[in-house]
Amino acid sequence: FGRALRYAGTASSTQDEARAWADDPRDPAPHGAVFVAERQTAGRGRRGRGWDTAHGSLVFSVLLHGPLPLPDLALMPLAAGVALQRACGVGGLKWPNDLLTPDGRKLAGILLEADLRGEEARRAVLGIGVNVHAAPEGAAHLGEFVPGLSRADLLARVLAELERCLAASPDAVLEAWRRSNVTLGREVHVTTGRGTLSGTALDLDPGGSLLVLTPEGQTVPVHAGDVQLVG
Ligand code: BTN
Repeated sequence: FGRALRYAGTASSTQDEARAWADDPRDPAPHGAVFVAERQTAGRGRRGRGWDTAHGSLVFSVLLHGPLPLPDLALMPLAAGVALQRACGVGGLKWPNDLLTPDGRKLAGILLEADLRGEEARRAVLGIGVNVHAAPEGAAHLGEFVPGLSRADLLARVLAELERCLAASPDAVLEAWRRSNVTLGREVHVTTGRGTLSGTALDLDPGGSLLVLTPEGQTVPVHAGDVQLVG
C-alpha cells in the first residue's frame, strides 16, 4: 500500500479525494493507493459524525479495489484496528476499531466505506485518523506515549501493518483482535440503529459481530453500533 500516494494541504475529506482519484479516467488510483491530507474541512467519522482533524494529526484514506465479498468486508474494520494498534504500539481496541489509551481516551479512529454492488463491494475506502501531536478536547494523542514519532514514519508503519492484517485469515484476524481489545469482559452500553442495549461484552462471533449478554441472560449479536464502556 502507498506506492501510489497523493498529498494535499487541505482536503474536504480524504475519503472523497480517494474516490475521486479512483474515478479519474486519466490516472485512476490503483489498489492500495493512499490519499493523505494535512487538514480536512469536512472530515467524517462513523455513524454520521464529523471528525475533527486536529493540527498535527495523521489523516489518510486507502483505496481497496473489489470485488470484496461481504463476509470479508465485515472483518476488515477489525483487521484495520489490529494494524493500527500494532503500528502505534500503545492502547487497546474498543469494538469495532477505536484505539483507546489505557485510561479510555481516543487516540485514533477508522472509517470503512464500501461501494456495494449486489452481494459484494465494488471497492472500499478505508480512512484512518490518528491524533499524533495534538488531540481534540477529551481525546489523547500519540505523542503522550511515543514522543518524537513523525507522522511519515507512523504512516509507513500503519500501511505495512495494514497490508499484513488485511491479508490474514478470518480466524487470525479475530484472534489478533481479541488479544488487542479492551472491550471483552466489560459492561457496555451499545447504541445501534434500533436503540440501546446494555450488558456484558462476551466475545466476537465468526463474522466479527459483538456478542452482548443481557441481564435477562440473552446473548445478542451486534453487527453495527457504538459501544460505551461502563465502569
Ligand atoms: C471514527 O472514529 O468515527 C472514525 C474516524 C475516521 C476519520 C478518518 S480521518 C481520514 C478519513 N477521512 C475522513 O473524512 N474520515 C477518515
